[in-house]
Order: sequence, then structure tokens, then C-alpha cells
Amino acid sequence: MTAAEESPLLRVTDLTTHFRTDRGLMRAVDGVSFTLERGRTLGVVGESGSGKTVLSRSVMGLLPRGDVVRGGTVQYAGEDISALDEDGLRRLWGREIAMVFQDPMTSLNPVVRIGRQITEHLRLHTGASRADARAKAAALLKSVGIPEPERRLREYPHQLSGGMRQRVMIAVALATGPRLLLADEPTTALDVTVQAQILDLLRAQQRQRDMAMILVTHDLGVVAGRTDEVAVMYAGRVVERAPTRTLFTNMRMPYTEALVRSIPRIADPGHTRLAAIPGRPPDMTRPPAGCRFAPRCAYARDKCRAEQPPLRESGEPGHTFACWYPVGTPEGAAALERNRKEAS
Ligand SMILES: Nc1ncnc2c1ncn2[C@@H]1O[C@H](COP(=O)(O)OP(=O)(O)O)[C@@H](O)[C@H]1O
Ligand SMILES: [Mg+2]
Repeated sequence: MTAAEESPLLRVTDLTTHFRTDRGLMRAVDGVSFTLERGRTLGVVGESGSGKTVLSRSVMGLLPRGDVVRGGTVQYAGEDISALDEDGLRRLWGREIAMVFQDPMTSLNPVVRIGRQITEHLRLHTGASRADARAKAAALLKSVGIPEPERRLREYPHQLSGGMRQRVMIAVALATGPRLLLADEPTTALDVTVQAQILDLLRAQQRQRDMAMILVTHDLGVVAGRTDEVAVMYAGRVVERAPTRTLFTNMRMPYTEALVRSIPRIADPGHTRLAAIPGRPPDMTRPPAGCRFAPRCAYARDKCRAEQPPLRESGEPGHTFACWYPVGTPEGAAALERNRKEAS
């Protein structure tokens, strides 16, 4: 095995992305580290504004160079890609690493037929002949569940439904056989049934192709059963990471617990969110001193407001979290109880 084959597919180390703004330095991503092995899936979950998109774009090297202060490294198959120039990055994008975004209309060209958009992408990245690219495009549309692919190839994006357009985007992303797919809220704009179909399609393709995937979403319900592991983000940081099942059954972070409770339950009348998390995420130009979730946390004590908890191991394999009074521990239960007494 070469060094590149031994190293994880993706290793992100202490990644920071801060924006210079009129209000000061905005700490959108603030010291994130994680690894992703080949063929594995990682869910990145957090409320809107927690830094998920900035993190994905930072990993891809897709952020404008201007008013950004970066730190940390991104290694892809052992190679530091945070130092690559535009040309180097372009070789990776669309071939090794592909992305699917929330709104396919912003990525598809409205005046170019679907077929040409896929074949041009294929020809650019793989050097396929026109005829080969055409045949491959039809096969790709079929593989992502688009009926009558030959007819669809001749159509324009606006002739397709939102779900069909997202399938086309997935076909484009898969065209070059990437080893890593980054899907940022790929189904947020779609209705619930179509969402589930698209998410299951992504999972099936990921498995078939043994491709690694990062699935970014504000909805923890989306990652259940579709990812191997989950990283929970809050205010620019990963605050808990665990195998997906462990996260749902044995979460340690009160924030994760609150997210689990806020998953909309389709079975419930009116699709009510059972417990929306009270309060709002902090202003990241002025993050709180201690734990960033403390101002909204039912478990928080003085220590939480003073000292930032470091990420530590739970004892279960692959499970880390950052909390002084964790859920499901005697310290956590005692903190919750004292807060209840003091409030009454
Ligand atoms: N170019 C930018 N300049 C300044 N702030 C930004 C910029 N892009 C994103 N942000 C801020 O960074 C934070 C994280 O944003 P984002 O990653 O889009 O959140 P998420 O995807 O989790 O909803 C937000 O508060 C957002 O306003
Ligand atoms: Mg986002």
C-alpha cells in the first residue's frame, strides 16, 4: 500500500474560516477536525447558520479568497489540498470530488438542454467521445431513476419537476465516478415524499459505487439510517461526533438531545415540531466565552458559561462530545435537577 492509500480519504485538521465583516471577525467555522474513510458516509447536522455550508465550501476550496481568514488543513487521499491553486482544485472538482447543492436551478444552465450539460461535463473531465458521452448520459439518467432518459436528454431544466432536476444534478455529480460526494441540503427545496426518494437514491448510489459521502442537513431526521456517522455542528464547531445509531440512542450533548427532540414527526398530526430549541444561535462575531450552547441549555451551570468544554471521548468507539454536564450521566442529571429547582 502506498501512503496515499493508507491515509483516510479526507482528513480535516483544525479548519477555521473567518470572514472580515463590518461588525468584526465572523467565526463561521472555528476549529473543525474530522476524518472520513473511503466509502463511508458522514452526516453534518446543525441549525441554520451553524457553519455547515461554509465548512463544505472550505473543504472543497470553493470560497472566495478575499475577506477570508483561513487556518488548518484539508488532506485528500494524503495530499494537502488546502494549498492547491485553481488549476489543481479544478482537477479534483467534478472528477474526484463532486457536489450536489440545495437548488439545482442555480447549478443547471436554464438555456442548455439536459443532455448537453451532462455530455459536456463528461467530455471535459473524462475526454469521452461525443457518442460515448451521449450513451453514458442516458445510462446515468436511467440509474438515477429518470424514466424515458432519451426524451429527457432533449429537454431544458424548466421542463422537469424539482425532484427530477435534482436527479439530473446527482447524475452530473456521479458522471465522472467521484470518490467523494458532498451533498449540501440536497433535498431541502423538495416536498417530503420526493425528499425521501432522493435521499434513498443518494444512499443507494453511494453504496453501489463505494463512494464516500458527506450529507449536510439542518434536519437530524434526514441522516438517520442513511449515514454511518454524524457530526453535530453548533456555532462553527463540531460539538458531538458518533456512529449514527450511537448518536440517536446515547447522545451526550444537550444540543444533540434538543435536535433529536425537534425532528418533525411525519406520523404526528400536523407534522408538529415537538420541541423547537428555545433561543437562537449566538452572533459569531461575539461568541459567548464558555460553551457556545450554554445560553440555551437546560443543563448549563456556571462552569459552562466560563469554560469552553473540550471534545472528549465517551468511551464508546468513535464517540466524542464537548460538554461539562453530559446527557445520560449522573453529573448531567444533577445539573438539570439543580437548574429546575433554582427556576421554581
Ligand atoms: N461570505 C460571508 N461573509 C460573512 N459571513 C458569512 C459569509 N458566508 C457565510 N457567512 C456566515 O457564516 C455563518 C455560517 O453560515 P453557513 O455555513 O451558511 O450556515 P449553514 O449552512 O449551517 O446554515 C452564518 O452566520 C453566515 O451568515
Ligand atoms: Mg447551508
